[in-house]
Amino acid sequence: LERRSEFFLTEDEKNFLVVGGATEWVTVRKAGMLFLALSVPAGSAVLSPELTIGADVAMLCEFAFGGAGVSFVSEGPRRELLRTEGRSSLTIELDELAGMTGRFEIRALSDVSIVRWVIGRVDRLNLLCARTHHSRRVDNEKTTFAAVYDHPIYNDRVQSGGRGVFEKPRGDRAVRATSDATLESLLAAPFAAVRDGENAYLYGNRVLTELIALPPPNFSSRLSALYRDRPVRVLSLCSGAAGVERGIIENAGIPVDITLFDINDDLMGRAAATLEGIATISGVTGDVNGISSDQFWGTFDVVLCVSGLHHVVELEHVLKTVAELLDKGGEFWVVGEQIGRDGNRLWPEAYAVGNALFSSLPEVFRRNAHTGAIDAALPTSDFSAATFEGIRSSEIEALLLGWFEPVHLFRRNCFLWRILEQTYFSNYDLANEEHRRTILRLVAAEYNLWKNGGRPTESHSVYRKR
Ligand SMILES: C[S@@+](CC[C@H](N)C(=O)[O-])C[C@H]1O[C@@H](n2cnc3c(N)ncnc32)[C@H](O)[C@@H]1O
Repeated sequence: LERRSEFFLTEDEKNFLVVGGATEWVTVRKAGMLFLALSVPAGSAVLSPELTIGADVAMLCEFAFGGAGVSFVSEGPRRELLRTEGRSSLTIELDELAGMTGRFEIRALSDVSIVRWVIGRVDRLNLLCARTHHSRRVDNEKTTFAAVYDHPIYNDRVQSGGRGVFEKPRGDRAVRATSDATLESLLAAPFAAVRDGENAYLYGNRVLTELIALPPPNFSSRLSALYRDRPVRVLSLCSGAAGVERGIIENAGIPVDITLFDINDDLMGRAAATLEGIATISGVTGDVNGISSDQFWGTFDVVLCVSGLHHVVELEHVLKTVAELLDKGGEFWVVGEQIGRDGNRLWPEAYAVGNALFSSLPEVFRRNAHTGAIDAALPTSDFSAATFEGIRSSEIEALLLGWFEPVHLFRRNCFLWRILEQTYFSNYDLANEEHRRTILRLVAAEYNLWKNGGRPTESHSVYRKR
């Protein structure tokens, strides 16, 4: 094995050695989630490649069960670093090994399952974890997204051109940004009337948008403003079925050349059908993590990504390439992005508030559409364990600032979406006044938390390259 400075354990790479009995990759359940883990029989050991340890390096290991001893093996004496028993997850700094070269060894004291094992600079540990099991995650992504788009919430999005997600407020605001929202203030607001075609998710999010003083970016007007004497050149990353793109381009009413980029061939076909007659379309099927400016002709006026960055592992590389692909004065639009805790989770403080509200709702609103059960609490699953969902969502905003300056930030939704999304939204009948009041109470609580320091999970924002 070649000498390296960092390491991550994955079934995709033969970058580790086994001493003793055969190991195998197995699926284990840990904290309610399924993980791929390397099962090591008692007495056997797994060795990392030879690593040269630099400054600020740490090791992160996570075991599902079993006992293990972790050591550093070099030309000098073997160093025992730690011993674990049962489930555990730990990170240790390796400052004492800085400047040394050697292998790390996990020895199974009893049959042990290694869920994660990553060694690298502290600010790269999350990236290294995200690089694991890439081929499995890709397979999962392709099968899941074909199915996800068959869900009514996505059909609504495509049919409405995504307008419900960030519709421009009409200015008839009953609540000033300085006061808290209440059920009464919302009931008195003209915008809180239900509009045709709305479901609980679209309705709750629209009313929330109306409350926020700075409206979301008007992407269609921005697109029109970029039109000169040739079609505006747009690149859409992780374009999926391109429903939101269609809405933006239709409203802009100007000639657009759009290049679609997605990993899923089937969705590329759907996107082409969605945009037919609205724009000139070309497409690149590929993995955005390996995107290169050589894949495209020239540069773009706008690069946009709708709900896609939270699926990206190589964010640094992708953002750098987006900056290269943008024309001078060009814009990067981050639309409907998940910027919450990794794994599409809420930030802990917002979870506490949202969950307290959710768990006190009548049972009728807590029926889980996937399981049929009545949920006592909001789900907390970390979807990034086995998929690309929210794989590095917590890092998106900070990394964007390495290549771009924000022009217009619209961030909201500390917890509301989690209560009104696919899992629960069909529990609400908007024609039922009590159901509508329940949604408005949730919207008011969401707005009040957001206004008072609550950390949002959703961004619709415009950036310009540095
Ligand atoms: C949450 S969907 C968003 C799709 C679409 N923009 C929308 O808003 O409906 C994520 C999209 O990213 C695509 N995707 C995921 N991982 C990708 C990758 N590594 N490279 C390219 N596309 C990817 C999926 O196929 C899917 O279409």
